[in-house]
Amino acid sequence: MNRALVTRRIPDAGLELLRQHCEVILNEEDRPLTREELLRGVAGVDGVLCLLTDRIDGEVMETARAAKGFANFAVGFDNIDVPEATRRGLPVSNTPGVLTDATAEMAWCLLFAVARRIVESDAVMRSGRWPGWGPLQFLGGDVTGRTLGVVGAGRIGQAFAMKSRGFEMPVLYADERPSETLERELGARRVDLETLLREADFVSIHVPLAPATRHLVDARALRSMKRTAYLINTSRGPVVDERALVEALQEGVIAGAGLDVYEDEPRMAPGLAGLANVVLAPHTASATITSRNNMALTAARNLIAMMAGAKAPNCLNPRVYERH
Ligand code: GLV
Repeated sequence: MNRALVTRRIPDAGLELLRQHCEVILNEEDRPLTREELLRGVAGVDGVLCLLTDRIDGEVMETARAAKGFANFAVGFDNIDVPEATRRGLPVSNTPGVLTDATAEMAWCLLFAVARRIVESDAVMRSGRWPGWGPLQFLGGDVTGRTLGVVGAGRIGQAFAMKSRGFEMPVLYADERPSETLERELGARRVDLETLLREADFVSIHVPLAPATRHLVDARALRSMKRTAYLINTSRGPVVDERALVEALQEGVIAGAGLDVYEDEPRMAPGLAGLANVVLAPHTASATITSRNNMALTAARNLIAMMAGAKAPNCLNPRVYERH
């Protein structure tokens, strides 16, 4: 019987499915494996279900020589050296589709929360120091009719943009490829990043992390945004230069930011947590019960296929199947 390592407890649906097909070796503790534990754990197993907090590089793959693939419990896969896996003929998969709406919804949560200062307001209410209604309290930014800037028009970026319909927002988007859906359904305009940053009232990031997108939003990009604009990031932390963002927020270069992801998780850049004009979520954009169950099932199905020598439904490097 095949043996699969699951590097941390995931929703039961996925574990039960896996157990119907193989022996599951589970890290029962609700924490990431240390590097040493990961290296020990992958040795000799037939497949690995890993998380975005596991760095899967050449060393891990070398140690996991018996493994027939790595199934990531995430749509993002910057934690895995996919080119190296491809060189080794190892399939790698992710969980696209099942968290699209949940992630787009989180971007909207952050957008509204930061524009309407919900976190600051909540703190005052809980403190018992609210003096009663006042005409100048917690003035925030408008959403309806303001310009939405969507950086990356893949599955999640498009879903995020489509949900703006009730708010009558002109939509700008930046992507290498045109989105027929956004242009047809929303009259969205594809523009370069500079134009988007200059014109949008809300800039929401939806690109994957790759060498070309690391620090895509840097000090210069932030300076080119409106002083009244907000930045939302539900993609990957390193897409934004977090230290530059802290400075920009401190100096009023932009109005605020809603973040779900950080450059060096679980740490945050110095000063970020002390700012009033940020809303900070702990990388929970996909954390709905349904999405996480479906991520678990998707990752399990991918791993089961890999271990059976069949093509994984969400294989990221299908070239590995062309060799034989
Ligand atoms: C979460 O960040 C994911 O990539 O699924």
